[in-house]
Amino acid sequence: MVHRGIALILAMGLNKASAFASIPPQPTSSSCHRCLTSMLRPIVYSTDVYHPSSPGLMNMNNEPHHDGKGRKEYDTAKMAGETIPGEMKRLVVTSPGNGTSVADCIIKVQTVPIPSPKPGEVLIRVVAAPVNPSDYGGWYKSRGPSSSSYPMPMGIEGCGTVVSYGGFLGGITSSLRCPVGTNVGFVITDPAQGSYSEYVTVNAMTGAFPMPEDVPIEDCASFFVNPYTAVGIVDTARRAGSSKAIVHTAAASQLGQMLNRLAMAEGMEIINVVRRAEQREALEGLGAKHVIVTDDGQDDDPTAWKAELRAKVRDLGATCAFDAVSGDMTGHLLDCMPGRGIVYAYGVLAGKANGIDPLDLIYRRKELRGFLLTAWLREGGPMRMIPRMLTASSTVNSGLKVGGWCRSQFTDTTMEGAHAEIVKLLGSSITGKKLRIRFDGK
Ligand SMILES: NC(=O)c1ccc[n+]([C@@H]2O[C@H](COP(=O)([O-])OP(=O)(O)OC[C@H]3O[C@@H](n4cnc5c(N)ncnc54)[C@H](OP(=O)(O)O)[C@@H]3O)[C@@H](O)[C@H]2O)c1
Ligand SMILES: *[C@@H]1O[C@H](CO)[C@@H](O)[C@H](O)[C@H]1NC(C)=O
Repeated sequence: MVHRGIALILAMGLNKASAFASIPPQPTSSSCHRCLTSMLRPIVYSTDVYHPSSPGLMNMNNEPHHDGKGRKEYDTAKMAGETIPGEMKRLVVTSPGNGTSVADCIIKVQTVPIPSPKPGEVLIRVVAAPVNPSDYGGWYKSRGPSSSSYPMPMGIEGCGTVVSYGGFLGGITSSLRCPVGTNVGFVITDPAQGSYSEYVTVNAMTGAFPMPEDVPIEDCASFFVNPYTAVGIVDTARRAGSSKAIVHTAAASQLGQMLNRLAMAEGMEIINVVRRAEQREALEGLGAKHVIVTDDGQDDDPTAWKAELRAKVRDLGATCAFDAVSGDMTGHLLDCMPGRGIVYAYGVLAGKANGIDPLDLIYRRKELRGFLLTAWLREGGPMRMIPRMLTASSTVNSGLKVGGWCRSQFTDTTMEGAHAEIVKLLGSSITGKKLRIRFDGK
């Protein structure tokens, strides 16, 4: 058990239950010859050996092992029979275009060598990856048009299967957390890589998250950015002014739907603000009790919906708002919050914030703050971060199960189709259609 505990602490982001479930039973009987071989497998199956040029080695153990108690051991041999090609395809931005639109940036499929995992890293065959607002915003906005930042690899998170790992000692630790064959969600930490790739390497402890075994792995594509943000929002609202309700905008987003389901379980009220009447229906279908529509199709006058919002804020005791929209919404929200209320900007769907009345800040002591997932995770240093990650990942991993609170609604596409498809969705309505790039040909 000791090594599992160490893996757990090192991982800092690991859900106890899922980690334990995903680690195969370790051999316990040293008298079993076959199991002795399997104990050495982490060493045998290092990157050098795990290569198409030596398929014979891979297949020599191609039968299930047992742990001396009649349990079947994880079938790494089957995975090891898989051939890893030398090259892979990935998506890159080659130019930000005019720097103002997703449509104008130039995106290409690039063929590059498959990255080889360094010690402590795993190689993942990617199954699927989502296209998030934080992704496409960065394609044309966050990097200057300096030629050195292009071609820019795309995609922050994704999911897939561990097919190999690097190094000797690194191989042992990696194999405890996510042995070859484990289905994982992953987060990119190397800026030279992106999740819209057929293969990625990530740090086994901090970049790869074993997923629940009874969920199709492609449904774990959005396992990180949105679910952990939903957990972070509820936590932040509780601590800042012990809000009993949260105002949330663009509230029919995937994240907004997750937040409604999570809040119900956590005893928190969500005051949903959306821009279309259909979005009210979608949210009420999930059980949302408070939905305000900002556009009644008649005019641009915000007076009516703001009065409705003010009344909800007062009645439900909301002291904070989380705003994914920005633009004019920022000023409207500050206006509707009570004295000392806080508006957290966490998305820029409508561009730069407008309409802020400084009197709200000066005399009514209202605050405008930013919320960023990674900053929330790191808040208070490592001693706070470890328990926070443990709690969050256990909430998320149980929520990823079929019918769970952090499931997503996906629309599938290919690497070749992704750019045109996201432009089309952004030009119509993206609600309920999180774009998911499939790498498994499905
Ligand atoms: N700060 C952080 O750490 C963090 C982390 C995760 C997510 N986020 C943010 O969370 C937000 C939601 O992400 P998601 O992946 O859940 O998005 P999503 O599923 O793509 O949904 C986007 C939603 O926003 C609506 N929308 C788009 N532009 C709008 C506008 N100008 N005014 C009002 N509504 C608008 C869309 O409605 P239509 O159907 O009408 O277009 C849709 O319902 C994004 O802003 C994202 O950047 C931030
Ligand atoms: C940038 O390109 C997009 C799409 O091609 C276009 O709609 C937009 O007007 C352009 N903006 C500028 C500032 O040139």
